[in-house]
Amino acid sequence: MMRWLVTGGLGFIGSNFIRLVLRERPDLQIVNLDAMTYAGNPANLRDVEGDSRYAFVHGDICDPAAVARAIGEGVDAIVNFAAETHVDRSILDPEAFLRTDILGTHVLLEAVREREIPRFLQVSTDEVYGDVSEGESSESDPIRPRSPYSASKAGGDLQVLAYWTTFKTPVLITRGSNTYGPYQYPEKLIPLFVTNLLDDQQVPVYGDGMQIRDWLHVEDHARGIMHVLERGELGNVYNIGGGNPRTNIEITRILVNDCGRSMETHVKHVVDRPGHDRRYAVDTAKARAIGWTPRVDFEQGLRDTVAWYRENEPWWRPLKSGEFLDYYKRQYAHR
Ligand code: DAU
Repeated sequence: MMRWLVTGGLGFIGSNFIRLVLRERPDLQIVNLDAMTYAGNPANLRDVEGDSRYAFVHGDICDPAAVARAIGEGVDAIVNFAAETHVDRSILDPEAFLRTDILGTHVLLEAVREREIPRFLQVSTDEVYGDVSEGESSESDPIRPRSPYSASKAGGDLQVLAYWTTFKTPVLITRGSNTYGPYQYPEKLIPLFVTNLLDDQQVPVYGDGMQIRDWLHVEDHARGIMHVLERGELGNVYNIGGGNPRTNIEITRILVNDCGRSMETHVKHVVDRPGHDRRYAVDTAKARAIGWTPRVDFEQGLRDTVAWYRENEPWWRPLKSGEFLDYYKRQYAHR
């Protein structure tokens, strides 16, 4: 039986990826190496815990011994979801981002090289291209990251590409756009706003709210990563985007309506994020050329996502306490 090592599989995209793979690849086993930081939540995979094709290893990708333990006798591929991912946290505290997103990637690349693992996929982000005022970023464009988060992810990408050039390490990179769906930690725009609105709280819109993001359903993102892992050409980067550009204020309006609140009472414009990129947009022709295409209709996907948070309050309620409240105060109190 084939075995894939997934890192960061207790996070948002990783857990959705593992669920998809177990469902659609009955001949595969998954090992999940996760450090269980604030964003790694065992409840994200409670439904697969008993599956004999699933194994969990607690550990950090920066620790070569933990990586060796997870690889065990060997794996057929490694997919690296493990990362610090929240831009606002990278502005408050950049160091953890450099460690996990750059050093962690390096530790995994070394393991792939030494153990001769046949495939390594780095899950990256469209944010490495930086602010794109017009047109779409293609994979051959220069990268111009502008936040501590995107600079750390870009550092990871550059390590991956350098290993391909220098050692012919068998690597792939995906650069995904803004992802939404079930099991997303409620610090990100959509789950933060939905859970605030369900709680009858205001939502903090940064600046004028006219920033544009391209929204991608997590199932389409997970499927894109699986597709590139199985069919991508080694040494290549593939953009994965939903083709749903929306301003933050448009997203806010939909969520406010869906939750039965009003823009006048429930929206608060707050001080903008420093260095805030206005727009991201990716050209996905390369991923489409190998047969991937997003399937989820955005309006339907967003409605279903709101319904999921409404129906799964026992999942998100405990997350909006403790560490989250400290973060929320640091991030929003002075705005
Ligand atoms: O583009 C892909 C990236 O998308 C991923 O690489 C990142 O890991 C992920 O966090 C996301 O980055 P963003 O910064 O775009 O996502 P976030 O949900 O933090 O913010 C989305 C937009 O909403 C952004 O323009 C900032 C704005 N925003 C966000 C929050 C949390 C607000 O206006 N208010 C808020 O409270």
